[in-house]
Amino acid sequence: MTCPDHRRMLRVLAAACLAWVGTTVLHAEAPVKIGFLVKMPEQAWFINEQKAAAEAGKKEGFTVVNIGTPDGEKVLAAIDNLGAQGAQGFVICPPDVRLGPAIRARAKQYDMKFVTVDDQLVDGAGKPLAGVPHLGMSAFKIGNQVGQAIADEMKRRGWKPEEVGALRITNYQLPTAKQRTDGATQTLLAQGFKPDRIFDAPQRSTDDEGGFNAASPVLARHPDIKKWVIYALNEETVLGAVRATEQLRLPAADVIGVGINGAGEAFAEFQKTQPTGFYGTIAVSSPNHGRQSARNLVNWIRTGQEPPADTQTAGTLMTRSNWQAVRAELGI
Ligand code: GLA
Repeated sequence: MTCPDHRRMLRVLAAACLAWVGTTVLHAEAPVKIGFLVKMPEQAWFINEQKAAAEAGKKEGFTVVNIGTPDGEKVLAAIDNLGAQGAQGFVICPPDVRLGPAIRARAKQYDMKFVTVDDQLVDGAGKPLAGVPHLGMSAFKIGNQVGQAIADEMKRRGWKPEEVGALRITNYQLPTAKQRTDGATQTLLAQGFKPDRIFDAPQRSTDDEGGFNAASPVLARHPDIKKWVIYALNEETVLGAVRATEQLRLPAADVIGVGINGAGEAFAEFQKTQPTGFYGTIAVSSPNHGRQSARNLVNWIRTGQEPPADTQTAGTLMTRSNWQAVRAELGI
């Protein structure tokens, strides 16, 4: 071979090498884009989740598109939008768990994988939607913790169960809500609470307003009851109900409300100079829910390894006296 031939061959080899390296690098770093869809984008819990997912994405090389989807139409539009952007999947806390089959059908159109966080989708028969990995609270156990915190505080205040009313704010269409309040009820009954002193207050929305509107008429119907304990699926709902007791001028010392979440609103309440009827909350790490569910999905997209079918997280009682320490510990 002559010299120019050599050079040409080297050039061809070098180009082939570069092309090979190029594809390998491209393949290893194939950009992953996912959506993070939540039913209540204004609630501190969901703000923390979305923020933590986006931060994990920045560090670990994937893009997160955060979207608020308060109703079914918005969910389907968000999936279309993600499909058009080339996203490979999404994490969702749906506005209504019965949207399961519709969400699955729409995701299939775009060949997208998806996982649920917090509220688990169900199928037409009300069973968890098969093949959709879920990450959520250990709802019943956390409910037990709510019941225990209420019972302990009742004892500390020297309340007799028969003179107390329990306001159970309910949303039985949402399985995690029912499990949480069922857990609290079970513990209260085991601690001597009377079943006929538990009053249901069905709620429409799982926020402060929903709690206030559910609690007000029930409290008004029982002016004879002077001491109340309050529980629900989350702290926003309990806070709404505590506001309803304040409107009826029930003293804070006669109310024990215990929530679930440990997000922004509970912190604001604990920082008030005077204690309110909101005694405490079972705190769970919302950033962890956001980060972990996003990572599970991205890992599924990248490696084909399906996440665990059902991951359940634990909670810690947070009150005025320990909220800062618990907050730091859970990284909230
Ligand atoms: C439900 C509630 C939220 C929060 C999450 C946590 O979605 O509505 O406030 O408690 O569960 O799993």
